[in-house]
Amino acid sequence: MGHYLPEKIITNFDLEKMVDTNNEWIVERTGIEARHIAAPEEATSDLAYAAAVKAIADAGLESAQIECIIVASESPDTKFPSTACLLQAKLGAKKAAAFDLSAGCSGFVYALGVANSMITSGLYKYVLVVGAETLSRIMNWKDRNTCVLFGDGAGAAVLGPVEDGNGIIAVEMGADGNGGSSLSQPAGGSRKPASHETVDAGEHFIHMDGSEVFKFAITIMGKTAKSVLKKAEMTSDDVDLLVPHQANIRIINSAAKRLGLPMEKVFVNVEKYGNTSAASIPIALCEAREQGLLKKGKNILLVGFGAGLTWASIILKWNK
Ligand code: UT7
Repeated sequence: MGHYLPEKIITNFDLEKMVDTNNEWIVERTGIEARHIAAPEEATSDLAYAAAVKAIADAGLESAQIECIIVASESPDTKFPSTACLLQAKLGAKKAAAFDLSAGCSGFVYALGVANSMITSGLYKYVLVVGAETLSRIMNWKDRNTCVLFGDGAGAAVLGPVEDGNGIIAVEMGADGNGGSSLSQPAGGSRKPASHETVDAGEHFIHMDGSEVFKFAITIMGKTAKSVLKKAEMTSDDVDLLVPHQANIRIINSAAKRLGLPMEKVFVNVEKYGNTSAASIPIALCEAREQGLLKKGKNILLVGFGAGLTWASIILKWNK
């Protein structure tokens, strides 16, 4: 695994000077204290590259051995070609098929599910999965409802075959497209192509009904986690560490409560990075490993939710 965060940090105090907000509100309602923001010359594929290079080296592999690259992102460099293809070129991973996956903040967990199927079916041996975002480019810096929440970053993992009973044990993915409008980028696609009017109306920015997404998140996280544990014939008692999507500390606390997990078993870094969407879970996983929390045989539960609306969870047995 590997992760990358751009150098520039914007704190809540910096935001106080930009919009009508304050540190107390942001900390109390979200748990966020700071977020990293990409430099003007950095795009999503650059962040993805920095994380991917580390992940490939960490796996003891060369780029030439990667057979497929999946990039989960809602802020790709361009609509097409895919960020995964741009990354494939940067890495010189000539053998790799490459495509992007759009599942909002659940994207990394979805991509792990897809990669897992590819490997267990024998299609590929090594798949590179990346969650990478430069949400700062699609954020309305004048909208306090959204600009205090998100950040930029990337996290990557190389997946390969392991012995039975190790690695990914069970996967659960789901969606409810009826809730799609509560979190979206309304313009720039075929429904509303880019025009002066759409730009003037700010329709290329993230639009979110925060309380709708909040309500969805607190119900679905517990539900999907319980369902993946059931598939794996496990219970919450078997979980050594929950690595949830890092959107809001209140959502994370609520998920832990619904699962009956003490906060010592829940990994949290939302205070440092804000919500990095598809990058949040791989960044958190990397940091959990750096802190010595991922030991061989430990059961790790990943739970994501996001735009779509989507959700996904994976229970895995750490194998290293
Ligand atoms: O990855 C998935 C992406 N999204 C999420 O996970 C977001 C899920 N939702 C949330 O995390 C929360 O709903 C928010 C953090 C977005 C909002 O928290 P809330 O407790 O639901 O607040 P609210 O939307 O009910 O707003 C409460 C008040 C409002 O003022 P009034 O109408 O009560 O006077 C807002 O205008 O707080 C106001 N407010 C702010 N005040 C200061 C909203 N944003 C801010 C702000 N600073 N940045």
